[in-house]
Amino acid sequence: MRSLSFLSMEYLFLLMSILSQCLKFGSGTAAVVHAGNGDGVQPLSKIAIHKAVYALHENASVKAHPLVLGTKGGDSDWVTVEIECPKPSEDDWIAVFSPANFSSSICQPSDDMEQFPDICSAPIKYKYANDSDADYKKTGKSSLKFQLINQREDFSFALFSGGLSDPKLVAVSNVISFANPKAPLYPRLSQGKSWNEMTVTWASGYNVIEAVPFVEWGMKGESQTRSPAGTLTFHQNDMCAPPARTVGWRDPGFIHTSFLKDLWPSSVYTYKLGHKLVDGSFVWSKSYSFKSSPYPGQDSLQRVVIFGDMGKAERDGSNEYSNYQPGSLNTTDQLIKDLKNIDIVFHIGDITYANGYISQWDQFTSQVERIASTVPYMIASGNHERDAPNSGSFYDGNDSGGECGVVAETMFYVPAENRAKF
Ligand SMILES: *[C@@H]1O[C@H](CO)[C@@H](O)[C@H](O)[C@H]1NC(C)=O
Ligand SMILES: *[C@@H]1O[C@H](CO)[C@@H](O)[C@H](O)[C@H]1NC(C)=O
Ligand SMILES: *[C@@H]1O[C@H](CO)[C@@H](O)[C@H](O)[C@H]1NC(C)=O
Ligand SMILES: *[C@@H]1O[C@H](CO)[C@@H](O)[C@H](O)[C@H]1NC(C)=O
Ligand SMILES: *[C@@H]1O[C@H](CO)[C@@H](O)[C@H](O)[C@H]1NC(C)=O
Repeated sequence: MRSLSFLSMEYLFLLMSILSQCLKFGSGTAAVVHAGNGDGVQPLSKIAIHKAVYALHENASVKAHPLVLGTKGGDSDWVTVEIECPKPSEDDWIAVFSPANFSSSICQPSDDMEQFPDICSAPIKYKYANDSDADYKKTGKSSLKFQLINQREDFSFALFSGGLSDPKLVAVSNVISFANPKAPLYPRLSQGKSWNEMTVTWASGYNVIEAVPFVEWGMKGESQTRSPAGTLTFHQNDMCAPPARTVGWRDPGFIHTSFLKDLWPSSVYTYKLGHKLVDGSFVWSKSYSFKSSPYPGQDSLQRVVIFGDMGKAERDGSNEYSNYQPGSLNTTDQLIKDLKNIDIVFHIGDITYANGYISQWDQFTSQVERIASTVPYMIASGNHERDAPNSGSFYDGNDSGGECGVVAETMFYVPAENRAKF
């Protein structure tokens, strides 16, 4: 982490270009992403979900509670999952599915699949059944805890035998869901195109036909005003290759961006996200705040944090926590602790390591929410956001898992003339 003044912009750009070189070479050794074949980077890619078959056992059960999450308005909650399995084995595992209905009826035949699959969407996370109880393979009983975030859809939990590479579906749980799955969530700020403009981007389940998105904002303690937001989304056929186009696909909901203009220099503003429903009622987020930029050239200290490759991890220990990117939580927590000493963050590529598993983007924007909702979170494209063969990317690898930049450029606002070239 470094602190430097805005005056040393040349130094900053030099540093950024050195870092982005590291980024490319640092991850260039990773193997290629294929749906379910395992690339050794994204843990979900180790699950051969498209090969899954039904092996339901009448005496096996999975039960999840509570049934309703976030009843106090929270956007994350803990769930307890109780498993009973008459024929337990060490490599039994529990998949978290969202939407809860992952049945074969939602599958579409695809050239990218070896056969017509029983299950065609990857779980959003998983744990081995023995995770909290090593005796599981003797007793067939286990109780697991998952921390779920609001990702606009309901959830179910499925017990598989056969390990990750040869999954057999043994039992499926009841369905649970957040009190308001469509709630506006995970705001991220970006500096606008001019010095006195801040943009706010967030996700919700509200299409513009259903509700009008906006931001209510103003100087702290003074009267607040409202600014409209634009709404974007993207579709499965916007993805360039598997797994984003196949098992990694998940509906991203709607991504809204509002432009807060004519800000006064170096002033504290408060804001909240709103949706006005057709019946005239409002849905609100919690309240956030940020400090606006100084006037260009104004004598001021600006503390800039620049990094790439931070990673994404699960606080509940899912997805082989200790093998993947646990350090990203330490980095996130340290940045949150230092937030009062930071004016802007540049995450210069390799943002979520979703690698074509779209569910991971909400989990990343949730992980960095405290940072990104308080200071501008400026992103640049890395190989893990952009690279897909024959899609115009600079490198021809599969490092984005078929996202080919579409997800990154929609999930985050960048003050570029052409969003596709950020
Ligand atoms: C399930 O449990 C019942 C009652 O113990 C037993 O009669 C039945 O055979 C079991 N089913 C299987 C498939 O093991
Ligand atoms: C739990 O299962 C996994 C996968 O089979 C295995 O690698 C791990 O050693 C097991 N853990 C315990 C405590 O038995
Ligand atoms: C799951 O989705 C399919 C396709 O939309 C639908 O036909 C089926 O009834 C759904 N199942 C449940 C349990 O909702
Ligand atoms: C990172 O965070 C984990 C979990 O809070 C903690 O156990 C670990 O000691 C931290 N590592 C470092 C290097 O601070
Ligand atoms: C990317 O993946 C495709 C199959 O999905 C494969 O044919 C191609 O060789 C891969 N490209 C690279 C550079 O590894």
